[in-house]
Amino acid sequence: MTNRRDFLTTASLAAAGIALAPLAACSRENQATAPVGGTPASVPAAAQPAAFTGTLLSRAIPSTGEKIPVIGMGTSGSFEVDGDADARAPLREVLATFVAAGAKLIDTAPTYSSAEDVLGDLVAEAKVRERLFLATKLSGVSGRDEGMAQFQDSLRRLRTDKVELLQVHNLRDTGTQIALARELQQQGKTRYVGLTHYREDAQKQLAQEMRQHKPDFIQINYSPVSRGIEKTILPMAKDLGIAVMINRAFEDGRLIAQVRDKPLPDWAKDAGADSWAQLILKFVLSPEAVTVVIPATSKPRHQLDNLKAGTGPMLDEKQRAALVAALG
Ligand SMILES: NC(=O)c1ccc[n+]([C@@H]2O[C@H](COP(=O)([O-])OP(=O)(O)OC[C@H]3O[C@@H](n4cnc5c(N)ncnc54)[C@H](OP(=O)(O)O)[C@@H]3O)[C@@H](O)[C@H]2O)c1
Repeated sequence: MTNRRDFLTTASLAAAGIALAPLAACSRENQATAPVGGTPASVPAAAQPAAFTGTLLSRAIPSTGEKIPVIGMGTSGSFEVDGDADARAPLREVLATFVAAGAKLIDTAPTYSSAEDVLGDLVAEAKVRERLFLATKLSGVSGRDEGMAQFQDSLRRLRTDKVELLQVHNLRDTGTQIALARELQQQGKTRYVGLTHYREDAQKQLAQEMRQHKPDFIQINYSPVSRGIEKTILPMAKDLGIAVMINRAFEDGRLIAQVRDKPLPDWAKDAGADSWAQLILKFVLSPEAVTVVIPATSKPRHQLDNLKAGTGPMLDEKQRAALVAALG
């Protein structure tokens, strides 16, 4: 059944020229409200991306129990296209495919050049703000005033009056910025606070800051060839009740480029995967302490591929070892 909000969203996506995926899919906790059913008659059939069919898995944010779909997306690089109309067009479809599958979490930062502006414009144009879990950052700033000014600007650029998650980017000025993020959380300007980094050599400091500040979220790198978080960060996140968001699962695309021409292993079908990207995402989602992964893409077909990784089984120990060997 299509409810009024879904109809309006469908109509506005179509009016904005967005090719909608057939809307059969939804995340588990959203089954009552996710869009279902038809394709607007105004969108030609040839423009439709392939269907996302399946049930996107969700995991709980430990500090509240709120569930979020395990596949999110990043915006570094992919959304840094400024006013380039040709580059924005596929991003509309990347966003529409994401929303139609019931996915929610989008990560950005004020220092990803034009990414916040582009994301803000496309979300407003498609009228899908209320379906999303927006995560941005206090990024490269020092002191409370700089942090506050940057956050106000992020809200303007994202065309919203609040975000779902505000993170301290790369552990810079952490004490002051996490205090500001907590203050904004008290004011209802963000629901959650977090800390981010993207390198193995920062994980010792991240562990110390996790113990000290006990954020709701951390965001850190993890892939079959960068497994540093398995030792300390993941067990600690579980003990402290901190949600874990994974960045750079594809090592910024390098990992997929490495295996692009290799045939998929036979066992991939047992994990319900039909691409290397899905195997890698299923690898990083296998530990139960991981909450969500945020692959970045500028291509609708890659978005669909990535979303599929959030369905069916994740990898068992034997499959994880086989993937590491295949990528090694
Ligand atoms: N310190 C921090 O807080 C921090 C640091 C790094 C990253 N991040 C966040 O994490 C996000 C993800 O990290 P990342 O962007 O560095 O790298 P990534 O997600 O590891 O890789 C992105 C690359 O993978 C390609 N790709 C995506 N899906 C694909 C698929 N299904 N098949 C083949 N290729 C695919 C993309 O190219 P196409 O466009 O061609 O698909 C892009 O070149 C960032 O966007 C950002 O939001 C945060």
